[in-house]
Amino acid sequence: MSEYDSLISAARQARENAHAPYSNFRVGAALRATSGRIFGGCNVENATYGLTVCAERIAIFKAVSEGERGFDAISVVTDTDTLTPPCGACRQLIWEFCGDVPVIMANLKGKTETIRMKDLFPKPFDSSHL
Ligand code: THU
Repeated sequence: MSEYDSLISAARQARENAHAPYSNFRVGAALRATSGRIFGGCNVENATYGLTVCAERIAIFKAVSEGERGFDAISVVTDTDTLTPPCGACRQLIWEFCGDVPVIMANLKGKTETIRMKDLFPKPFDSSHL
């Protein structure tokens, strides 16, 4: 039992909706807002491949478009033995909206690993550089 169990299960549930006919790599993410609301997202692929959007970014865009701003954790779930960290583009977006949050990676067998964004994305470009 961990404080992230409900976040992981939201990511797992979001993964059920993955649209991944090209890669067959189904990803679920869930983002916890400081308001307590949890926003799920799944990867949504496209026949042009390049327009594919990752699960993490879908969750972030859903939450931001609902007016949420503060976030304190994000989870990513895949069906792999090696847990899946967010891609580079998603790290940039997670940093922008969430800052140094814990990223809880999990698989369907219950394996989990938590890494903070500062460690995953050590020298970010952000608004402090503008
Ligand atoms: N993908 C995600 O949704 N999140 C990640 O963290 C890694 C990659 C998706 C994009 C694409 O639909 C599929 O996984 C294979 O790259």
